[in-house]
Amino acid sequence: MKIVAATANTDKIKEIKEKLLSIPDLEIVPVSEITDVPEIPEDAESFEGNALIKARTICSITGMPSMADDSGLVVDALNGEPGVYSARYGGPGLDDKGRYMLLLEKMADIPDGSRQARFVCVIALVLPDGREFTTTGRCEGSITRSPSGDSGFGYDPVFYIEERGKTMAQLSMSEKNSLSHRGKALEKAAAILKDLAL
Ligand code: IMP
Repeated sequence: MKIVAATANTDKIKEIKEKLLSIPDLEIVPVSEITDVPEIPEDAESFEGNALIKARTICSITGMPSMADDSGLVVDALNGEPGVYSARYGGPGLDDKGRYMLLLEKMADIPDGSRQARFVCVIALVLPDGREFTTTGRCEGSITRSPSGDSGFGYDPVFYIEERGKTMAQLSMSEKNSLSHRGKALEKAAAILKDLAL
């Protein structure tokens, strides 16, 4: 069984392969190895909507079972911001550090007990026969007052995980994968793929 992954991000491909290893004869192929894909607009209002847009587009271009993910950070005290805008928060002039510093600034007046947040990831699987599946993974935490740690990416340095007593950026890659939103969504996707036995 071959599944096209709608990402060229090598860390994501590695994590997808690792989580789906238990499925016999499954081959994950990054779409970039098959064809050039035009930039896909991610303009839905939900993670699920964006993941489906990407998976549907890749499936219609390649004619093969296709998988895509969309993820982001949801902060309760900011009514769900940055949410689907996580990658673009604060506009195109900001890098990862600029985005999490902006987040800390916006949350300066939010008291310690009200800084809950979660990373959310939705995986969409679209088959050429029109069947569509989505799975969701969440990782609960809270937003710190200053950054700590230098592994990972994005908002990891300001995302604190109570049960580990560390920020996401202070975890090793394998520790992060074992509890991350993406890891959890992938485990659920693996269960669907096992049932489908394409
Ligand atoms: P995408 O799903 O790759 O488009 O990611 C959306 C954005 O959400 C990223 O650019 C990050 O800002 C944020 N994000 C998603 N997953 C993580 C994570 O595991 N750690 C830190 N930031 C993340």
